[in-house]
Amino acid sequence: MKASRPTPSLSAKLITLVCVFGFVFVQAQIAFAQTGNITVQVDKPGAPIPKTLFGLFFEDINFGADGGLYPERVKNRSFEFPNPMMGWKQLDRGDTKGELYVFDHGSINDTPNSHYLRIKVATAGKGFGVMNEGFRGIGVEKGADYFFSISARRIDGSPAALRVEVEDDSGHLLGQTKVSGFTTDWKTYTASVRTTETNNKARLNLLLEGSGTLDVDMVSLYPKMTWENRENGLRYDLVKLLKEMRPGFLRFPGGCIVEGRYLDQRYQWKTTIGDLDDRRLIINRWNTEFNWRLTPDYYQSFGLGYFEYFLLSEDIGAEPLPILNCGMACQFNSSELAPLEDLDHYIQDAIDLIEFANAPVTTAWGRKRAELGHPAPFNLKMIGVGNEQWGPQYIERYEIFARVLKEKYPNVALVSSAGPAPDGERFDFLWAKLRELKADLIDEHYYMAPKWFRDNAGRYDNYPRTGPKVFAGEYAAQSVGIASPDIDRNADVVQMSSYAPLFGHLEAWQWTPNMIWFDNLRSYATPNYYVQKLFSVNRGTRILPVLLDGSAKNGQGELFTSASLDERTSEVILKVVNTAPSAKEVRINLAGAKTLAKVGKAFILESADLKAENSLDNPTKVAPIERQLTVPAVEFAYRFTPNSLTVMRVALR
Ligand code: AHR
Repeated sequence: MKASRPTPSLSAKLITLVCVFGFVFVQAQIAFAQTGNITVQVDKPGAPIPKTLFGLFFEDINFGADGGLYPERVKNRSFEFPNPMMGWKQLDRGDTKGELYVFDHGSINDTPNSHYLRIKVATAGKGFGVMNEGFRGIGVEKGADYFFSISARRIDGSPAALRVEVEDDSGHLLGQTKVSGFTTDWKTYTASVRTTETNNKARLNLLLEGSGTLDVDMVSLYPKMTWENRENGLRYDLVKLLKEMRPGFLRFPGGCIVEGRYLDQRYQWKTTIGDLDDRRLIINRWNTEFNWRLTPDYYQSFGLGYFEYFLLSEDIGAEPLPILNCGMACQFNSSELAPLEDLDHYIQDAIDLIEFANAPVTTAWGRKRAELGHPAPFNLKMIGVGNEQWGPQYIERYEIFARVLKEKYPNVALVSSAGPAPDGERFDFLWAKLRELKADLIDEHYYMAPKWFRDNAGRYDNYPRTGPKVFAGEYAAQSVGIASPDIDRNADVVQMSSYAPLFGHLEAWQWTPNMIWFDNLRSYATPNYYVQKLFSVNRGTRILPVLLDGSAKNGQGELFTSASLDERTSEVILKVVNTAPSAKEVRINLAGAKTLAKVGKAFILESADLKAENSLDNPTKVAPIERQLTVPAVEFAYRFTPNSLTVMRVALR
């Protein structure tokens, strides 16, 4: 774990671009040319490229879940933050006498949701109640509908109704509704609000009409429009960006979130499914992680829990890859360990998760899945044992997990950890031990300077072709620099890769760089996203060898390449990064191709200005453009523009 500060400039993005080239190329290795001859050996297809080569890493960091992908507008909706009134303020319209109390017993569901708010009005007037500030404000759109819901019970008097207002920060009303008919039992009341203007900093008011006492809990304002229009669904614009990448897998829930600062703050999947008020809120470990980016209002409501995660994976066509705690809290924090003899509970969680995902509906966990609305299995094929763990303590725990899980589920691949850095003593120790243990996939993390990527362009060329495969599970270039290594060309060793972190709220981030930025209503993808996307949607099915100036060796320089064959469409795919500030004239030879379509396609991501960035107002300033590619013969000339990634697709006839 190593965080850099603010958002990187285009130079860092280009680096990541090259890194993606490189890293994403952990599989598809890129080569470098001193001069200008690229030969793609079209008639020598090599190893298959796994569908999982390019995927996604999701963690609830930077308001990635609550306040982000999970579009609930009310912060601290169940009054369960340690300060139960955080995010809420008393609202007094002047002529009403009222009081607010928080109780921690007698709620609709005392475990785990014991707190609720009591609104007591002695003398009725224009209104008394509370205001919720949302996640750095509440985003609403003109003409959009929002579901309001609340659990409430009448204690005494005759509170006639609860007025629900959405207003801007100057008090101008944007939408309103009412709920009424309260009884002395807890009940859920719902209503719909249509907002008349777009506002990214609105707030929600709850005002009691009449006099009396009302208890309230589980307050929600939720957009009707979600991905697939699901109730409790996910934010549409963000899922769209994910789906458009055609990711091979979706890693979840992280990241250090898996581990927690202490074991009791680890991610426990069973507390994240079922009724929302059954989900146990905990502190988000990024709340206090960086003292220059403290985020005191960062908690995990788990509204986006494991069921929503499996649905999301299915929606975007990605294989789920859940990462489970293996009895170790974050080693950058407490390093707390579950004793080896107490690991059963952790292993049982893993077994139950596999059952929840895959077992028939006649079993307890399969039935649970069906009750939640998904009788068909999710077809889980892999899980991770621990996140970024290291040391003999990890190996001891991994070994026990692997023994039990492999015996019960021999076809479920296990992802194990190579620690937080891509080399060094910890890394070497873990690789050696995990190789002995015949691990399936080893998760390498690289948050490194761009130079490292360039220097490691050939990183995977000499990895053994037998034994564990590589999962480049978290990577990003974290400073300004130049180029990097290769994943595509080593797809027989590197089977999976994912850039990290994925999301960042522009006003609530803890870590940069991130792949997608958003505020309460809008979002934009970074050039790094477009690099990932270009690689992912142009993956191909078999590696093609590439020679740069006659050499198959990766090197240092300004051009990096990889190539693949897409057997589904019979196309040759060539990817070239030009890291130079000048154009490169290159002769391309698609050697061994008998006949080619005369016209192909080129997708180009480029920018003359290395400081260029995308933004909410200009989201595609640096984004791929598509050009027609003229292919007069098997050998042809091409000019690669400065600071560019070019992906060519040419059909074989
Ligand atoms: O991606 C941010 C953090 O980096 C992850 O939580 C952790 O696994 C790594 O240290």
